[in-house]
Amino acid sequence: MADRTRPNQLPEWTALAKHREELDGVGLRELFAADPGRGGGYTLQVGDLSVDYSKQLVTDETLRLLRELAAARDVFGLRDAMFRGEKINVTEDRAVLHTALRAPRDAVIEVDGENVVPKVHAVLDKMSGFADRVRSGEWTGHTGKRIKNVVNIGIGGSDLGPAMAYEALRAFTDRSSTVRFVSNVDGADLHEATRDLDPAETLFIIASKTFTTIETITNATSARQWLLSGLGAGQEAVAKHFVALSTNAEKVTEFGIDPDNMFEFWDWVGGRYSYDSAIGLSLMIAVGPDRFREMLDGFHTVDEHFRTAPAESNVPLLLGLLGVWYGNFHGAQSHAVLPYSHYLSKFTAYLQQLDMESNGKSVDRQGMPVAWQTGPVVWGTPGTNGQHAYYQLIHQGTELIPADFVGFARPVGELSESLKAQHDLLMANFFAQTQALAFGKTADEVRAEGVAQELVPHKTFRGDHPTTTILAPELTPSVLGQLVALYEHKVFVQGAIWNIDSFDQWGVELGKVLAKRVEPALTEGADVPGLDTSTQALVAKYRELRKK
Ligand code: F6P
Repeated sequence: MADRTRPNQLPEWTALAKHREELDGVGLRELFAADPGRGGGYTLQVGDLSVDYSKQLVTDETLRLLRELAAARDVFGLRDAMFRGEKINVTEDRAVLHTALRAPRDAVIEVDGENVVPKVHAVLDKMSGFADRVRSGEWTGHTGKRIKNVVNIGIGGSDLGPAMAYEALRAFTDRSSTVRFVSNVDGADLHEATRDLDPAETLFIIASKTFTTIETITNATSARQWLLSGLGAGQEAVAKHFVALSTNAEKVTEFGIDPDNMFEFWDWVGGRYSYDSAIGLSLMIAVGPDRFREMLDGFHTVDEHFRTAPAESNVPLLLGLLGVWYGNFHGAQSHAVLPYSHYLSKFTAYLQQLDMESNGKSVDRQGMPVAWQTGPVVWGTPGTNGQHAYYQLIHQGTELIPADFVGFARPVGELSESLKAQHDLLMANFFAQTQALAFGKTADEVRAEGVAQELVPHKTFRGDHPTTTILAPELTPSVLGQLVALYEHKVFVQGAIWNIDSFDQWGVELGKVLAKRVEPALTEGADVPGLDTSTQALVAKYRELRKK
């Protein structure tokens, strides 16, 4: 009997492997020729997102077999357990309920017998009240000056989400204030973020789920020094210039932040799934509570779709399964996400943590080594910049790199008419690229253009590079929420297929422990027992160079 926790032992897996062999050599030109309805037909809609997967190396049969694998792995069963608040994060014995963060006020979602939705809305209301007071100028700094600058100090999930969303929704932000994000423990980060700011007008938001993350606490301590020395004030000034976003009230108080100025969230919100919780406070101050709630509604639209849509039209399921198809049956090791929007400049960096910290695992939920590939390397930057940099490798390199193209029908923001007109050129590139990637250019076509024979191989494009095209009307707060939820659930689907815990992150722990151990060697030249000879030599070199 097959062990149903081992996907590669399932007959559905074997059927896919066989199907993959049968499809070998069948390219997109052929698939389109065989089915005149493919273009436009292979499209699903979720909320405002139209998702076209016609340029994927799949047939109806592929999709059917992939859905059978999902059924065999009971992806929807695990999904339902997540939405019900069951502790599906097995290694940390925690519920996984980022979906509760955007549930409507009257929803009931229980963790350990307690409905968590009222708590979520109480924090959202507290955030809204605070954001309104900062935005209106009612909340002033220690000297009575209006707050004009907000600096979010956090790292990983306590930085990437709000930083990404702030960029994404810049067109909706209050332009009279500045919002900056500091994450790196490299002192240059805080220095550059604060060097031109007036402390009297600056609010620091210390974002840390645990409130023990060394980078964040170090930067927060330095920010406090900067503030107090800049103001020439004592500890009493902190209350007006520091707020905390955390699950750890004790540590927040220990740091000297008034617990009234703490915005809470809970252990059932993973760091990389947290920017729609209190972690989004900087974003809420920037765009205002109404826009923030529109974003939450966008998340919720996709949550409901994922929870209720049948497998055939379930978009996160489809995207997750396509990733499995390429990773496990085509050997693809990376996945590019290529947004055609300047405002989405940090979107792929955000997805890197979401996907790679979730699914970068090599043991299954039972602790057994996996014998199948798990999460891919996720990468990409906004088009068209990428076109003039690394697209060459996607078009003509030796790797198979599935890619998502994300674009919008209308530009947002107060652009001049001529800048608005540039949008068609941007999108012409968007459509041209997926076309070129899918269909390439044959040697015969190149020759027919009169190209010299010796250059023909260089100018030939193999094609058959699979892409998904995600098209939305415009990048509104709701659409951003929809996009993020889509990827959250895609990652979930893949973790469920691979039988891994997508919600822990033990892999980041070892480096943290070793950094603490090695630090005295750097600062005091201390003899660290057990330090390997390579690191010893490097530390010695570092200390020698540092003196100069
Ligand atoms: O080091 C990884 C990590 O735990 C992430 O998962 C998390 O988003 C980040 O560190 C920040 O953690 P915290 O919010 O507790 O400071």
